[in-house]
Amino acid sequence: LGKEIHYFEEVTSTNSIAKEIAASEEEGTLVIAEVQKGGRGRLGREWISPHGGIWMSVILKPGIPLRHASRLTLVAGLAVANVIRNMDLDARIKWPNDVRINGKKVCGILTEAKAEVDKVDYVVLGIGINVNMDLKDIPESFRAGSTTLKAELGRHIKRVSFLQDFLFELEQQYILFKTQPFSHILNDWLALSDTIGREVKVTTPSRIIEGKAVGVTPDGALVIKKADDTKEEIIAGRCIYARS
Ligand code: BTN
Repeated sequence: LGKEIHYFEEVTSTNSIAKEIAASEEEGTLVIAEVQKGGRGRLGREWISPHGGIWMSVILKPGIPLRHASRLTLVAGLAVANVIRNMDLDARIKWPNDVRINGKKVCGILTEAKAEVDKVDYVVLGIGINVNMDLKDIPESFRAGSTTLKAELGRHIKRVSFLQDFLFELEQQYILFKTQPFSHILNDWLALSDTIGREVKVTTPSRIIEGKAVGVTPDGALVIKKADDTKEEIIAGRCIYARS
């Protein structure tokens, strides 16, 4: 991964560029920018992307059914968490895609896929990591609940070495994804997740589901046990911890 790198000083969104070029690019091509002016988060949210972060998109062509594309979000989250943990920070994963340190978000992942019938043509893994920027560069309404690697470690991080370590780790996890039953990755993900066992409130476009997070399905859906003891699987939504 990362044999071919498209580097930009400023873009609207690396994910948008990656989607435009994906069809004619080899698997593993990376789009990376210093600044995004129209960074996109999940569920239509904006993603603030000033200087000092790592804003990147990786093009993958795994040849999997579309319903399995969300598994790659878990793969990417696991890879980011592993690299941060190697820096002696206690990175945890909040379903489905936030990597957090001490309960504060340091990374978000936006997976976008294009499929023909049910098979994916490509998957774009958009990964945003708050590395060295000053939290004051993030508008106050977005700042709450966020942190940076620099703030957590108390020193400046070399982004190039972080990127190298991350691409190496993502490639290892991607090889496991393609060669092993998905349960291997899911188990590693579950071991780093701080969502399971918590009382959660998940908001989807149509409703709000409250209960205890009891598991994640092989397709990455969160399983919630509700007050009436029935279980529900939620594939996408905004998750809030009710008690911490
Ligand atoms: C989220 O937590 O809502 C997901 C945030 C994903 C941000 C990354 S930064 C690189 C890539 N380009 C984008 O526009 N978004 C993703």
